[in-house]
Amino acid sequence: MDDLHAPPVPGIGLTAKYPEIGTGPVDTTIYHDPAIFAQEMEAIFKRSWYMIGRVEQIPKAGDFFTCELPSFRQAVLVCRDREGRVNAFHNVCTHRGNVAEHRAEGHCNGLFTCRFHGWSFDLQGRLARMRDEEGFFGADRAGMGLKKIPVDIWEGFIFVSPVDEPHQTLVEYLGEQGRDTAGYPWGACTQSYQFETEIACNWKLAVDSPSEVYHIPVLHPNSAAPTMMAAGNPHGRLLDVTLKGPHRTNSHYSVLAEPKPVQKLAYFHAQAAQNVVQAELDYELPKGINPTRSPWWTVDLITFFPALSFTLSAHMYTAHQVWPLSPNRCLYQQRVFVRPAQNAGQRFGQENTMVEFRDVVMEDLSTLERIQRALDTGQIRKFHYHDHELALRHQHYVVTDILAAYEREQG
Ligand code: FES
Ligand SMILES: [Fe+2]
Repeated sequence: MDDLHAPPVPGIGLTAKYPEIGTGPVDTTIYHDPAIFAQEMEAIFKRSWYMIGRVEQIPKAGDFFTCELPSFRQAVLVCRDREGRVNAFHNVCTHRGNVAEHRAEGHCNGLFTCRFHGWSFDLQGRLARMRDEEGFFGADRAGMGLKKIPVDIWEGFIFVSPVDEPHQTLVEYLGEQGRDTAGYPWGACTQSYQFETEIACNWKLAVDSPSEVYHIPVLHPNSAAPTMMAAGNPHGRLLDVTLKGPHRTNSHYSVLAEPKPVQKLAYFHAQAAQNVVQAELDYELPKGINPTRSPWWTVDLITFFPALSFTLSAHMYTAHQVWPLSPNRCLYQQRVFVRPAQNAGQRFGQENTMVEFRDVVMEDLSTLERIQRALDTGQIRKFHYHDHELALRHQHYVVTDILAAYEREQG
């Protein structure tokens, strides 16, 4: 192992690995144009899969949860049936459209009963009971079940498609990024906490925000900077960026050189974000995580295009999902996953990390509405990306490329 006290200075040259995406300023039209937003919904968002939860949330037959796909205004009901399968349905009662299940989560005795007129549906979505059925003119129950939603599972994550016939399978959608990150102990982090907030900005700005660390010394001087810059890295550069088709990974450098007293205590106890080397872990890091195998690695930002990312360390991870709502509005959801703490010290460390991370994210989000105003009013027509803002350049490239292909496809 290299000497942790003599960290290297990460260099320039990330963008040069991918000459196809260029180095010049990029046009900002895709960040505000309503026609482009409409195209993105068709060509990108309707063709993607969405992670809505984990299998551990519904371990037994009859367990369920409900959620929404905000970009599509779809209500979803997910349950486990008696054969152990995970099913997903439009949470829309087929009588007159109320939600079939109104609770956020729970366990049912095999039936979901609508609270409007009392129709019931079983764990496979079949219409099991119409109250006062005699009055329904011999309606055929068989065709009146809950409408199914395509659902699939990867590494314990439940994904759904917003359209009946997905553009590609989940495995195809996840691609190389899915293959390279499978095997991480996703299922060990069974405790989770979440929040969401609506932001008046284009969805891409919210994805961009944590996707570069060029801003770390300036935007996060008191939160992230003391640990992510440290001596050899005054500009907070990344260890690496890897582009994988539409997906990408940022690998983060960190030296815990100047922790505050409370951080020192928390890091000592935490199973959280900290420098680790493989020898200290009880599992093998998949090749897509800490891809450079650096001893100065702490966190990767694993992004599945278009808008799902994981900030992931050796012991915990956070999922970020951005939902486009309009050209200049989106919903940001964050869900932190940690292992059950074995003692009070670990819990303290986890809590400290979550609070630190929340503060960093709030700082990240603080610039977005101002940027959107500049875009909407035409005050900025080009973005100039630093070498270590490669992830943003890549996102711009991928979106532009997909929209061009979609236009050709449409003739
Ligand atoms: S809308 Fe559900 S029973 Fe009437
Ligand atoms: Fe940041």
